[in-house]
Amino acid sequence: MKATSSPPSARWRTACCAEARQLTSRKAQMMIYFIAAIAGIAGFLFGFDEGVIAGALHLLRGEFTINPFDEGLMTAAVPLGALGGALLAGRTTETYGRRALLLVAGVLFAAGALLSAAAGAVWILTASRLLLGLAVGIAAMVAPLYISESAPAEKRGMLVSIYQLAITLGILGAYLVGFAFSESWRLMFVMGVLPALALLVGMYRMGDTPRWLALQGRTEEARLAIARIRELAPHDPAVDAELASIRQAAQQRTRPGTWADLLSPTVRPALVVGMGLFFLQQLSGINAVIYYAPTVFKEAGFNSTSTQILATVGIGVVNVGMTFVGMYLIDRIGRRRLLFIGFAGTALSLGMIALAAATASESLDILATIGMVLYIAAFAASIGPLPWVMMSEIFPLKVRSLGMSVTSLANWGFNFLVVFSFPILVSSIGLGGVFAVYALVCAAGLVFTYLLVPETSGVSLEEIERHLESGQPFRTLDAAPVRVATA
Ligand code: BGC
Repeated sequence: MKATSSPPSARWRTACCAEARQLTSRKAQMMIYFIAAIAGIAGFLFGFDEGVIAGALHLLRGEFTINPFDEGLMTAAVPLGALGGALLAGRTTETYGRRALLLVAGVLFAAGALLSAAAGAVWILTASRLLLGLAVGIAAMVAPLYISESAPAEKRGMLVSIYQLAITLGILGAYLVGFAFSESWRLMFVMGVLPALALLVGMYRMGDTPRWLALQGRTEEARLAIARIRELAPHDPAVDAELASIRQAAQQRTRPGTWADLLSPTVRPALVVGMGLFFLQQLSGINAVIYYAPTVFKEAGFNSTSTQILATVGIGVVNVGMTFVGMYLIDRIGRRRLLFIGFAGTALSLGMIALAAATASESLDILATIGMVLYIAAFAASIGPLPWVMMSEIFPLKVRSLGMSVTSLANWGFNFLVVFSFPILVSSIGLGGVFAVYALVCAAGLVFTYLLVPETSGVSLEEIERHLESGQPFRTLDAAPVRVATA
C-alpha cells in the first residue's frame, strides 16, 4: 500500500512539477522559434533584396539609359557584394561574434535601402546594391550559424529549412511591393528599411550564442545564454550538462580547420558535393527568373506591365508554397530521390520554356507560362532547399564552418555569373538559347546526383563523418541501416 500510493501533498507536488517542466519546455520552444524568427528576418532580407529589382527594372530602364552590361552589373551587384560579405564574415564572426555581425548587417541593409531609394544615377544604384549585397552575404552565412548554434540538435534541420522559407517569403514580399508601388521604384527600394530595422531591434535584444561565448572562454556568460535560451535557472543540471558538452567540444578544437584540411582526401568528396550542388542550383537559372521574371514574362508574350508583375507575384506564391512541400518531403523520401525529381522537373520545364521562347508562335506562350510554374515548383521543393541543408550536414566538425563558408561562396559566385550574364546572353543567343543551356545543366544534375551525391537523410552527422574517414566513395553512404533502426 505504502509503496503504491503517495500522500496527497507529494502527488500534488509531482503533478505540479511536471506541469512546471512542461511549461518551461514550451517556453523554451517558443524562445527557439523566436530566435529562428529573428535570424529568419535576415533570410527575408536576402530574398527581398534579390527579388525587388524584378519589379523595378522596367521603371529604371525608362528613367535611365541602360545598356545590357550596366543592367547586368547593377542587378548582379547584390550577389557580387554578397561574395565579399561571405568572405568577410567567415573570419570576423570568429573574432567579434555572431550577434555583432548580424547587427552590422542590419545597419548595412538599412543604409543600402535608403541609398538605393535616393540614387540619382545608375552607378550610385550599383554601389548601393553592392552594399546591400555585402549585408546579404554576411547575413546568409551568420544567420544560419546563429540558429544552429542556439537550436537543440534534434530541431536543427527543420530550423535551417525555415531559413530557406524566409528567403522565399522575402522574394514574395519584394514582388508584392513591386505590384503595390508599380509607379515608383524609389518606394519599392525604401521598403527594405522596415525589415532591416526589425533585424536591428531584434538582434539588439538578443545575446550571442553559448557556443561562441564558450569559444572565447566567457564561460559564465555562456551559462547565462544557455539558461536564457532554454528558459532554465543558471544552475539547473540541464544547463550544467549542455555547458559541459559545449566546453568539451570547444577544448577539442585545438586549431581551426585549414584549406589543406578542406582539400584532404577525406573531406574533398564533401566539398565536391557541396560546391557541385550550388553550381547546379545556380546554373539551373533560378535567379534569371527571380531577378528578371517580368522581363521573361514579357518575352513570353505577356504584353501589359501589370500582367507581367502579377504573373511574377504568382511565381513568388508558388515558390513559397512548394518550399513547404520540400520541407515535408526532405526527411521522408530522402535527399537523393528528391534531387532526382527536382532535376528531372526543372530540365523538362526549362526545355518547355526554351521551345516556346525559340518559336515566335503566340500559341506557344501558354507553354512558356506552364513551364515557368512547373520550373519554380520543381526548384522550390528540391534544388532550392537541398544544397543549404546538405551544406550544413556533410562537412566533418573540424572543417564545418570553413566548408560552409566556401560552399556559400560558390553559391554567390555562380549566382553572380548567372545574373550578370543573363541580359548579355539574351541579347546574343536569345531567351530560347539561354533556357536551353539551363535545361542541359539540370539534366547534368541527374548524372551528378546518381554518381556523387550520398543519401544523408536519417544518418547522424557522426556517421557521415565516419563514412568519409573510411575512404569508401561518399556516394555509397546509405541511410538503410539507420532507417531500419529508427523505423
Ligand atoms: C537560392 C537563391 C534563390 C532562392 C529562390 C535559394 O536557395 O540560393 O539564389 O534566389 O533559393 O527561392
